[in-house]
Amino acid sequence: MKPLQFGSVTIDCPVVLAPMAGYTDAAMRTLCLEHGAGAVYTELTSAEGIRRDSQNTFAVLKTSGNEHPIAGHIFGRDPEAMAEAAKYVEETGLFDWIDLNCGCPVKKVVSRGAGAALLKDLPALGNLISTVRKSVSLPVTVKTRIGFNHDFADHLEIGRVVEESGADMIAVHARLAKNFHGGDPDWEKLGEMKQALNIPVIGNGGVNSVADAEQMVDVSGVDGVMIGRGAIGNPWIFDEIRRGRRDACDTGTVPQASRLLERRAMMAEHLKRLVLLNESKQEVSSRAVKYTAEEAACIQFRTHIPYYVKGLFDKKQLLIKLASLLTVDAIMDEVDNLFEKNINPRRGAESAEG
Ligand SMILES: Cc1cc2nc3c(=O)[nH]c(=O)nc-3n(C[C@H](O)[C@H](O)[C@H](O)COP(=O)(O)O)c2cc1C
Repeated sequence: MKPLQFGSVTIDCPVVLAPMAGYTDAAMRTLCLEHGAGAVYTELTSAEGIRRDSQNTFAVLKTSGNEHPIAGHIFGRDPEAMAEAAKYVEETGLFDWIDLNCGCPVKKVVSRGAGAALLKDLPALGNLISTVRKSVSLPVTVKTRIGFNHDFADHLEIGRVVEESGADMIAVHARLAKNFHGGDPDWEKLGEMKQALNIPVIGNGGVNSVADAEQMVDVSGVDGVMIGRGAIGNPWIFDEIRRGRRDACDTGTVPQASRLLERRAMMAEHLKRLVLLNESKQEVSSRAVKYTAEEAACIQFRTHIPYYVKGLFDKKQLLIKLASLLTVDAIMDEVDNLFEKNINPRRGAESAEG
């Protein structure tokens, strides 16, 4: 794939990590960047939260300070609040561009007229984009969907409004918002948008392997590929796609021992980075904390573990125990037991016999 350029941003290999609330914090993003992700996005950040000076909101925007290229990904309905939030993101000096969420289907967001609800009111969508565009000098992009539901599904009109309102790039999840993250993505619609638009188009939805990425580009001709769930517990997916390798770390089947050791090491590193991230968040927070940084990291890591242990024999035990494990050592002891059983199945069976 050719490098992708919009405004001052160049993505040398445009296979990028999707924004995912609850997952794509600095720990996951740095691992993905080190493993070949062309760019990353923050988790969903509330423009109203930034306006209210909410510490929780600022914590979502926490970066390692050295993640590039990175988008500050914000949502909201009110153009002025979005413009203020965009200015704040720009002034931190940490981000390469501002991305506007115009596709989130979650009730809490849609009921406020934000996220995917904007796809039911295209003049409001256009006004929001152009207001933000005028308020910052960083590039402004939009992450959206091919429609809200069958009544609001004019993907070409959505693309036209986004482009004419001044967005520098559009990333499109090829599913309707009503389908959340399920069902087959419609990559042909991505191709129609690519044909109709002059701004770069990044395609998203259903890319979980090198073959999927190749197929999405073949079918649609998009300028870049965005990967969401396929990267959870699998940062290697970016290296694989960069190099066209199909053997890097197949998490769908039981892999060879060296791959298992690589996976175990990645889990330890990911957990370590989560602890450091929580420590740095707690250092700047004036609020009383419910959990220590280590405990908070262990709780956050729970959602990643099922992806890292996908395909492993006897993983159920670990997944059941997870809810009570609040130290790095306790989690890694259980992880070691599981990997030992999978690398050395006979030893696993002997220990089970007592
Ligand atoms: C747990 C989770 C959280 C997500 N959070 C966001 C978000 O904050 N902002 C956003 O634009 N999309 C969000 N998405 C959607 C993803 O960015 C992506 O569009 C979707 O998962 C489809 O891509 P995939 O098939 O590669 O997973 C989220 C998806 C998941 C599964």
